[in-house]
Amino acid sequence: MNKEYALLRLLGFLSAERPRSGEEIARELGCSRSAVWKQVEHLRSLGIGVKSMTGKGYWLSETLELLQADHIRAGIPEREAAYLNELVICPELDSTNAEVFRRPLGEQHAVAFMAERQTAGRGRRGREWFSPLARNIYLSLGWRFETGIGELSALPLLLALAASRALAECGMRGHAIKWPNDLLIDGRKLGGCLVEIQGDASGPCNAALGIGLNVHMPAGTQGSAAIDQPWAEVAHFVPGISRNELAGKLIASLLTHLVRFERQGFGVFMDDWSTRDALAGKTVDVVSPAGRVQGRASGVSKRGGLLVETSDGPRELHAGDVSLSV
Ligand code: BTN
Repeated sequence: MNKEYALLRLLGFLSAERPRSGEEIARELGCSRSAVWKQVEHLRSLGIGVKSMTGKGYWLSETLELLQADHIRAGIPEREAAYLNELVICPELDSTNAEVFRRPLGEQHAVAFMAERQTAGRGRRGREWFSPLARNIYLSLGWRFETGIGELSALPLLLALAASRALAECGMRGHAIKWPNDLLIDGRKLGGCLVEIQGDASGPCNAALGIGLNVHMPAGTQGSAAIDQPWAEVAHFVPGISRNELAGKLIASLLTHLVRFERQGFGVFMDDWSTRDALAGKTVDVVSPAGRVQGRASGVSKRGGLLVETSDGPRELHAGDVSLSV
């Protein structure tokens, strides 16, 4: 068993309800008591609260739910499950998006990769995505499109819509999408999406469709340097939310959205977008590769571009960082 699996076995064996003695753990894991101690230290260094007391043993300071393929699959309705080729859950990956592209080309389609932790989670525009162990959702779906890259410019928005639908189904109200694909609540980031595509302009091409959702952040993250923007976590709004249930709904929603998008294009999602649009009617400041644009946001185009009414007339933007002007 490799060390990441051993670490997860330990985490799965520890409980918040009752202490487990070092001896009991060593027996369960088939290792020495000093190896147990080392593993516990490793868990602590990864942000997991493990309490200990001589003579009592080790226990978790909070209940953690590990990802389980059976539980996730149980949440995917049959119709959507038929589109999914494989679900792979890894204890640790550098990035679930990177894992999609490590698969041979013909074996990436409709394979969902999830990880308990990412060591080099990728965010948009080269940023790092904070990916602590056993708390959040890091999901990437491989998808092969017969069309070329040029037809796929609305994909980031589609992913955000799919994630927003899954969150709503889990009872998460009041969130919105900031173009192109930030999931926000009260101006704080709940999650984001990253689309990476390999292939030709004229097609076909292979995409890694990545979604990261903050479900339970580790204690001490607020105000730390780990994340450079205000964030929120789903569990704050939906106490007791199950990561497995959310993951199942997320995969199902992603599959439904993708199949519909391939058949009908992004146009059919415009109404859905407008009910979740965090920017509509607001004065925005967009720093894009083409320069800085200021104006009033007025929705999105069928190609997924942000529509902005500027003093020089309407503009459609396809890249950039948006902030609200005051
Ligand atoms: C953003 O910056 O808003 C996008 C964040 C995307 C993070 C997800 S987590 C799963 C997938 N794997 C990655 O390395 N990134 C995406």
